[in-house]
Amino acid sequence: MNVCDSGMLGSTLSTYGASQVNSLSDADVVILNTCSVREQAEQKAFSYLGRVEEFKQQNPFIKIVVIGCMAERLGQKIKKRFNNIDLIIGAREIDNAALKIINLCSMSDVSKKDQPDIKSEIIRYVSIMRGCDNYCSYCVVPFVRGREKSLDYKTILNECSLMVKNGAKEIMLLGQNVNSYQYENMNFASLIKKVAAIENLERIRFMTNHPKDLNDDLINIMATNPKVCSHIHLPMQSASDKILKAMNRKYTYERYLGLINKLRITIPDVSITTDIIVGFPYETEKDFEDTLNAVKSIRFGGLYVFRYSPRPNTRAADMIDNVPLEEKKRRHAIILEESNKISIEIVSKMVGSTQQVLIEKIENDVIEARTRSGRKVFVECGKEYELGKQINVNIKEAKINLLFGGII
Ligand code: 5AD
Ligand code: SF4
Repeated sequence: MNVCDSGMLGSTLSTYGASQVNSLSDADVVILNTCSVREQAEQKAFSYLGRVEEFKQQNPFIKIVVIGCMAERLGQKIKKRFNNIDLIIGAREIDNAALKIINLCSMSDVSKKDQPDIKSEIIRYVSIMRGCDNYCSYCVVPFVRGREKSLDYKTILNECSLMVKNGAKEIMLLGQNVNSYQYENMNFASLIKKVAAIENLERIRFMTNHPKDLNDDLINIMATNPKVCSHIHLPMQSASDKILKAMNRKYTYERYLGLINKLRITIPDVSITTDIIVGFPYETEKDFEDTLNAVKSIRFGGLYVFRYSPRPNTRAADMIDNVPLEEKKRRHAIILEESNKISIEIVSKMVGSTQQVLIEKIENDVIEARTRSGRKVFVECGKEYELGKQINVNIKEAKINLLFGGII
């Protein structure tokens, strides 16, 4: 989501003549887009700000702007800790960020372009909603990004069409809970249908899904529309009903498993990935083992596992963070090891299969592409291939997060 927001901001600034550079020494303004989901992300941003401030002592003309969730949550604190920050723009004000930065940098609209720089990227992200109303008890998002709001589908469809005109072949629709998208009488499944009708668009992906809102309409459209990729990110968080309840997730493990079964029956080649939190308050060894056993039996296509980190204002922050750090680390490592083992088994089984991949990059006669399930594939090619084309490849070798293939 931050990559998407940064991209949008960058393209608005480009209409005022700004362009992206790769090093501080080439920059007039540094814009740091921040995340507050876990404490570690905030620590990283703080240490980066320290480095940029040091740079500014030698280069006083550079401007520093902090945007995003951490700017929303800790704006005053950031100002106090760092004296040289020029502008702080919270996540709720992200839509006004461009104008504020334009004013700060005295960018002129004399030669303002109607269209942003045409980015001919093959894969583009499109935000379809803002905020979140779910209040999972560990999560800071509703406090920093505000209430859930679906964006107008007409704007979304225009944006997607423009991207496809500019060369995009795959669009990823983004929201904290895309399943609850609703604008007038358009729900998420009907929005996907509309996006899929855009000519020359090859693939659609989306994230993130909330198990409590995943419905048959979406599962059916994934099964029947060839443009919709057969990958779904469905955060489980835990397989213990006691912990799921304390997390305010509003589903049981049994219901989650029911969705997995339905997805697998309806979409035979589906890849399901997930998020897991270990060490939530009062997670016992037994609760953890329930989650570990679920990981073993569901066999996710991939997963992210996080150590619980208390976030201010959330309901879980009032609970005692009683799982010691060492224990959180142990549980984290066990889930990761199990997941890696399963991933290797899954990709090894893909060796010898034919996969449809979309070409994202070509460098030194090597194609970088992705399968419909989202796995990266490198393919050696002798002749010219076109970016954004879908081709069939034969998988010859598999590493944990990487496949190697040959052209058929
Ligand atoms: N501690 C640890 N992990 C968290 N996540 C969200 N909040 C926290 C937290 N306080 C994880 C969840 C979510 C993912 C984006 O980040 O697993 O799905
Ligand atoms: Fe956070 Fe839950 Fe909303 Fe996801 S659904 S952003 S975890 S509150």
